[in-house]
Amino acid sequence: MSQNIESHLVENRVIKPSRDFSKNARIKNMAEYRRMHEASIKNPAKFWAAEAAELQWGRKWKLVLQWKEPFAKWFEGGTINAAENCVDRHAEGDRKNKAAIIWEGEPGEKRTITYGQLRREVSLFANVLKRNGVKKGDRVIIYMPLIPEAAIAMLACARIGAVHSVIFGGFSADSIRDRVADCGATCVVTADGGYRRGSIVPLKQNVDTALAGNKAVKRVIVYRRANNEIPMTKGRDVWWHDEVKHVKADCPIVHHDSEHPLFVLYTSGSTGKPKGILHTTGGFLVQNYSTSKYIFDLREDDIYWCTADVGWVTGHSYLVYGPLAAGATCFMYEGAPNWPEPDRFWQIIEEYGITILYTAPTAIRAFIKWGDEWVDKHDLSSLRLLGSVGEPINPEAWMWYYRKIGGERCPIVDTWWQTETGAIMISPLPGATPLKPGTATLPFFGIDAAVVDNDGKEVPANVGGKLVIRQPWPSMLRTIYGDRARYKKTYWGEIPGFYVSGDGARRDKDGYFWIVGRLDDVLNVAGHRLGTSEIESALVSHELVAEAAAVGRPDEIKGQGVVVFVTLKTGVKPSNELKTNLRNHVGKVIGAIAKPDDIHFAEALPKTRSGKIMRRLLKEIAAGGEVKGDVTTLEDYTVLAKLSAQE
Ligand code: PRX
Repeated sequence: MSQNIESHLVENRVIKPSRDFSKNARIKNMAEYRRMHEASIKNPAKFWAAEAAELQWGRKWKLVLQWKEPFAKWFEGGTINAAENCVDRHAEGDRKNKAAIIWEGEPGEKRTITYGQLRREVSLFANVLKRNGVKKGDRVIIYMPLIPEAAIAMLACARIGAVHSVIFGGFSADSIRDRVADCGATCVVTADGGYRRGSIVPLKQNVDTALAGNKAVKRVIVYRRANNEIPMTKGRDVWWHDEVKHVKADCPIVHHDSEHPLFVLYTSGSTGKPKGILHTTGGFLVQNYSTSKYIFDLREDDIYWCTADVGWVTGHSYLVYGPLAAGATCFMYEGAPNWPEPDRFWQIIEEYGITILYTAPTAIRAFIKWGDEWVDKHDLSSLRLLGSVGEPINPEAWMWYYRKIGGERCPIVDTWWQTETGAIMISPLPGATPLKPGTATLPFFGIDAAVVDNDGKEVPANVGGKLVIRQPWPSMLRTIYGDRARYKKTYWGEIPGFYVSGDGARRDKDGYFWIVGRLDDVLNVAGHRLGTSEIESALVSHELVAEAAAVGRPDEIKGQGVVVFVTLKTGVKPSNELKTNLRNHVGKVIGAIAKPDDIHFAEALPKTRSGKIMRRLLKEIAAGGEVKGDVTTLEDYTVLAKLSAQE
C-alpha cells in the first residue's frame, strides 16, 4: 500500500525549468508557449511558413498547404534541396570549419568532418551515384553500419533527388529482399561489415544472399569498413573508394519540388508485411528543422548526440536531417553501449563534452541495471539537456535519468512521435514546460493532438482514448509506398478527418498527454516496432509449424518481450532443440530483434467461435498470470486449461 502511494507521489512530481535554462531558451515560459500554440493551431500555415522561411529554397512556395484529405501537399510550388539545407548552406558561411559530424567507431577510431568537408564528401558520393546510373526518383537501399558514410549516402541521394530507403543493419537478408522488391530499388549501398560488440556484422554477405536471383538491382556500392573478406560480383559490385577516384567534388545543387520523395522507411504494422512509409522533402525538412531548434534548443557550441541508428526514423530525423539543417555538431557512435564495458556512453560524454543526449527508455533501463558505479566513474557535467524517445518512459527510469545523468540540472524532453509523423509531435519545450516524469507533455506548435473516443469526440481529463491528430502537419507521411488505399484506410479511415496514430493515451488535468501504448497488434520491443503478425508469418514459414500466435509481455529492459505460442504440424515432437531452431528461424526471416524470448508449444490455440485467436488470453498467460478476463466467447475451454497447465 505505502509503495503505491509512494509511486503515485513520484508521478505527481512537477519539475519546473531552471531559471538559468529558461533565460536563454527560445521559448521562456508557458504563457509564451500557450500563446504561440494557440495561434499556430488557428493558423498553421502562418507558423509553418515562418519556419520554412528560415531554410533555403530554390523557388518560394505558392501555397503553404494543399489539403485534399487524406493527401497533403506542403509548400506547393516551392523547390528545395535537402542536402543544400543540411550541408552547403553551412559550408558557405561561418560554419564552414565547424564540425558537422564527430564520429567514434566501436573499436575506437575517431573522425571529425567539418561542414566544408561534408559538402565535399556528399558531392563526391552524389557523383558516384550518378556515375553508376542512379537518377532522380530512383530508389537506393542503404544498408550500412553507423558510420559517417551512412549519412553521406543519404545526403548524396537527397542531393540528386534519388529516394533512399535505409535498412537497419540488424535486419536479415530476407528482410532486405522484401524491401528491395517492394520499393523497386536499383542500387544498394552497403559496407563489407560493421562492428557490434566486438564482432563483425556481415553486411555485404547479407546483401548478396538477399539479391540472389534479383535482376532489378544493377549496382552494389561497397564501403570498406571492417576489412572482412567478401566476394565482389563482377559487373554489379563496385568499391566506394575506387569509385570516388573517378569523380569530381563538384556536384551543383538541383532544386526538387517540395513534394519530391525524400525517402521510404519500412515499419511494422498490424499485417504480416512492413509498410513503406513515404516522406517528401520540403515539409519533412521544415518540421525537423523547427523541432530540432525549439525542442533540443540547439546552440552553436553544442555537441549533440542522438544515439539512434540511421536505420530507424529517429536516425533519419534527429541524427541527420533535423540537426544538420540547424547547423549543429552531431556526434555519432557506431557500436554497443556496453562495449567493451558498460560505461562506454559515459566515457564518450566525458571525453567529447557532449551537451545534449537523446536516447531511448530501453537504454536507460539497461544502464540502471548495469549499476551506478559505471556512471560514477565519469564527469557528465557537460550535459545540459536530455531527451527520450521510442516508448513511454517509466517514471522511475525518468527520475534516474534526471538525477544520475542530468545531475538534476538538465531538463528532459520526452518526445512522442512515429515513423509516420516524421518529426516530433508532442514534447516539452525545455525552457518553458514544467515536467512530470512519464509524460511527453504537450503538442508542438501547429500540432492539433487530441484524445478521442471511437466517434472522434474528445474524452474528459484522465479518461483513456485514441491519440489522434486533427490537422495535417508538414512532416506527415504522404502515403504507404505503392498502396494509397492502405494509407487511407490505416490512418484516415477510422475516424473521419482525423489521423489515427494507433496509440492509446489520456490527458491529465493540465492537458498533458500520457501515452499508454499501442492499441493494435504492434509490439514495442526495445523501442522498435514489431507486428505480431510479422512474427507469426515468420514462424509459420517454418516447415514444422502449423500455427502461431505472438504476444507481448512486460520486460524489465526491453519494455516488451516477445512470447510465441506455436502449434506444430501433426506428428512433430516439441523439443528444446526445436525451440532454438525456431528462434533462429525468426532471426533469419526478420532479424535478431524479433527473436522470441519465450516459446510455448501448444496443441491448439484459444480461439473465438469465429476462429479469431484470443490474444488477450495468451497475453495473460505469457505474463505468467492467471486468465482472469472474459472467456465466454472461447470456442474450446479445454485449450485454455492445457495452456495454463503448461506453466
Ligand atoms: O507507441 C508509440 C511509441 O513508439 C511508436 C512509434 O514507433 P516508431 O514508428 O518505431 O518510432 C519510434 C521513434 C519515434 C508510437 O506509436 N513511442 C514513441 N515515442 C514515445 C512513444 N510512446 C510514449 N512516449 C514516447 N515519447
